[in-house]
This record gives sequence, structure tokens and C-alpha cells, in this order.
Amino acid sequence: MKISNRTLALGTETAFEVLAEVNRMAREGKHVISFCIGQPDFDTPRHIKDAAIKAINEGRTGYTDSVGLLHVREVVAKYLSQTRKIDVKPEHVAIANGAKHFIAFTIACTTDYGVGDEVIYPNPGFPIYESQIIARGAVPVALPLSEKKKFGFEIEELERRITKKTKLLILNSPHNPTGGILEQEDLEAVAELAKKHDFWVYSDEVYCRIVYDKPFASIASIDGMYERTVVCDGASKAYAMTGWRMGYAANPVLAAHLARWITNTESCPNHISQYAIKQALEGPQDESHKMVESFRERRDLTVKLLNEIEGVSCLMPGGAFYAFPNVTKAVEKLGLKNSEEFRRLLLQNGVAVLSDRHFGKRNEGDNEQHVRLSYATSKENIVEGIRRMKEVVEGK
Ligand SMILES: Cc1ncc(COP(=O)(O)O)c(C=O)c1O
Repeated sequence: MKISNRTLALGTETAFEVLAEVNRMAREGKHVISFCIGQPDFDTPRHIKDAAIKAINEGRTGYTDSVGLLHVREVVAKYLSQTRKIDVKPEHVAIANGAKHFIAFTIACTTDYGVGDEVIYPNPGFPIYESQIIARGAVPVALPLSEKKKFGFEIEELERRITKKTKLLILNSPHNPTGGILEQEDLEAVAELAKKHDFWVYSDEVYCRIVYDKPFASIASIDGMYERTVVCDGASKAYAMTGWRMGYAANPVLAAHLARWITNTESCPNHISQYAIKQALEGPQDESHKMVESFRERRDLTVKLLNEIEGVSCLMPGGAFYAFPNVTKAVEKLGLKNSEEFRRLLLQNGVAVLSDRHFGKRNEGDNEQHVRLSYATSKENIVEGIRRMKEVVEGK
């Protein structure tokens, strides 16, 4: 029996595959330090867990509205209004089992299948963007990010990719895998283009609370942009809640349509987790702040140690918990073909990272090699992991 081409063409998050490899090596007794997985290494704060336990004990276990409970959406709307300085109403909000669903749902809401509708997305980028653009029958248009622009993009590069078929632009700041942040002036320039050419924007803001040097800026805060922007955020990264599967999106027009996709797929967001996310947003924020402070220390350590390796250079990421060092010289020195061979060599030597290949095809004319390290791991692991990396590269 045939498997559909649509399914065979699906992309993946290779992080999960590399993780399986790391676990296999661990079972064989090899000690591997993993910088692979993009999740906080903290436990969910106690008060959030307690809110969920209380919800279970009170019998909050049935279906809810597809978009989530009104009183939870009220809290989300208040949080988004305050942090993005826009007027988000509870009826603009849809809650789902993780922010990830909104990528597919937004593409489905803004493009038609197989008619050539185009979606522009950052490259390198979260691999699910390209995968879902193709799965939904739209055309992926990669927007190259540039190390020279601290992993932002040249506005001319964006402008050149806009056509009459452009329906949606995906932005992600702070960015996975580079940790880059889009500058306010770039957001303003993108907003001008979105209005001029009349396309939607999906602003993936799941790392918005993990910023180090400047306050977070959303494109939705720019005058006239919230109307055309799906603002997407969630609990996974900010509150160490990846397994609770809670994400939310807001847009005055699209929320009702996102809701129809939720009805057609998941029925509703997890009832119990909605009580947890309500507590996360309303309750004390000190634990979340402590996590960010800890990520800041680990970022500084990671970048410092990486830059001490001959042939490796790493920009200081402004957000998220990823470092994206340029390893071109190290790859050349070791006589390897590319970052993927470098990644394999590191893994053989007990260090697991992801290569830039896991985050999209190489942009035309780009011969630079990068790997991604998630520094959401202990300082001891960071020191030992990067020591092993240095040993491999410098042969000492
Ligand atoms: C850029 C980006 N968007 C979305 C997600 C998915 O988040 P969630 O756990 O809320 O589904 C991730 C997770 O790694 C991510 O890196």
C-alpha cells in the first residue's frame, strides 16, 4: 500500500533523532555530553504543578471550548496586551497543545493548497516551518539569515522574495537555532513591506522571555501590525513546561479560524494544563526570572569557551538558549567536508551538537559551516563538553 508523497516529504526535528542516538550510546556505556535538545533543564515551578493537581482533584478533566477556557484566555489576553502593548481581547486568543500547532494552522488559514501561494520563512530556521509549508501545499521561500547582521536578514533580501503570491511571512525572534534577535528598525521595515504588499505575518515568539541584553520587541507592537500578525507564544520555554504542551496565539481576525482548525484536529487544549498555564502567567515570576539569569551565565560561559577554540568563532546570542558558532575553519583544519561531518566526529568523541544542516538547506553562495549548541545544561557539562570539542579541533 502506498504512503502519500505528502507524508514522505515531511521534514523532522533532527534533534529528536540525534537524541535517540545519544541515548543509544549511553546504553552502550559511552558518556556523551548533549547540547542537542531545545528545552530548559529545570523542573516546572511548584506553584504551577500545584495548580494542575488542584484542577485534577476538582474534576477539571472534560473537553473545553476548542479555543480554551474563557477565564484562561482572559489571562493570556491580559499578558499579551501588557507585554506587547496592544489591545488583545480574550476572543482574539486561541490556546492549543503547544505553540507548534499554530505554525501549521496559520499556514492553513492563510494559504490555499496547491495554487502556488508562497510563504517566506527564515533559513536557517526551526525545521517545522518548511516542512509544514510543503505539507499544507504552499510554496516555501527561504529568507537567508546573515551572520554579518547578527543572524538577522537584509531587508533587500526580503523585498526581493516578495511576489503577488506571497501570503505569509514567518518571523522568529529570539531565533532558533542562532539565538539572534531582530532589531526594532528591521521590524519597522518588515512592517512597511507587510502593509505595502498586504501579507500576513506569523511572529513565533516562544523565546520572548529569554532575552539578555535588550527588552523583547514584537512586530505586533508596531502601529497597524497586530491586525495582520499572528502572535504566538507559549509556556514551554519560559516556564520549563515543554511536556505540558501549552501554547497560545492571538489575532483579531484569525483566532476564530484557528479555532476551527483546533476543532478539526485536537478538539481542545488539555484542560488540566490550562489551569497550569493560568497559574504560570498570573502567579509569581521569580522562578522564571531565575531560569533566565541562569541561562545568561551559561550563555556567557559557552560563548567564552567556544571562542577560545582555534578555528571556532561565536557571536553573542541575544536570546533563547542556543549558541551557533561558526566552525568553518575548524572543519577545514580537520579536513572534513562540512558541519555534518564535524558533528559526527564530535559525537564519536562524546559531544552531541546539531549541525546547520538540521535547520534548512544551505543558502545560495553560503559556504560557512555552523553547529548549534543548546546551553540549557549544567555549567559542568558546558565546561567538559567544550573541552572535548577543543581537544577534537586542536588535537591536544
Ligand atoms: C522556534 C520554535 N517555535 C515553536 C516551538 C514549539 O514550541 P511548543 O513546545 O510550544 O510546541 C519551538 C520548540 O523548540 C521552537 O524552537
